[in-house]
Amino acid sequence: MATPHISAEPGDFAPAVLLPGDPKRAERIAKLLMPDARLISDVRGALAFTGTVDGQPLSVMGSGMGMPSATLYATELYKFYGVERIIRVGTCGGIARKVQVGDVVIALGAHTDSNMNQQRLPGLNYSAVASYDLVRAAVDAVEGDQRVHVGMITSHDHFYFSSHDETWLPLLDQYGVLGVEMESAGIYGAAAEFGKQALTVLTCSDHLLDASHNMSAEQRETSFQGALRLAVAAAHS
Ligand code: ADE
Repeated sequence: MATPHISAEPGDFAPAVLLPGDPKRAERIAKLLMPDARLISDVRGALAFTGTVDGQPLSVMGSGMGMPSATLYATELYKFYGVERIIRVGTCGGIARKVQVGDVVIALGAHTDSNMNQQRLPGLNYSAVASYDLVRAAVDAVEGDQRVHVGMITSHDHFYFSSHDETWLPLLDQYGVLGVEMESAGIYGAAAEFGKQALTVLTCSDHLLDASHNMSAEQRETSFQGALRLAVAAAHS
């Protein structure tokens, strides 16, 4: 039973799926975490792998960029492949001053400029929120001096327009929004539609209001692996 966008067989996906945007990153994560990872779908280059971490099954799949792409894959995973929890692992642009490049952001909820969730409940300003149990598991896994923020993010359609808007950014900062990315509001909406679970764990890759912080490639990899550890803890909680 393939879907229009996934060629895996029934039972190929683990109950928990890590969902980075970049399919190549999905492949790197699969190889890093799971020596037994096998490719289960490659339709349109959206590579998906399943293996085990410490004996527990896990899948990793690339979602592509933006809410239409990520929501489409989340929907097919929840609806047709029996997936119970999706943990997006990705990057965000920092907005709150306290968020530095390299910090981890756990997204309690996602505002959005997209109208995808308005189509779900016409007339309602839908609130896209993470699953509390997954938030708690990720937070419980934070260790030592790891810099982690838990709060709201915003999911935008335009990378080069609304995400960097000079009027909008100070307001988002004022309202305590931690960062911007392009997928979570859609994934959280899909989880709600099917009574499933979702969480987003992000690494701040750039800061939109404070360009003074930058990361070496090595620092980038270290902090990404810190975020990944929290995501796996949530996946297997
Ligand atoms: N993901 C990482 N950085 C971003 C930015 N500046 N805007 C939107 N999404 C992002």
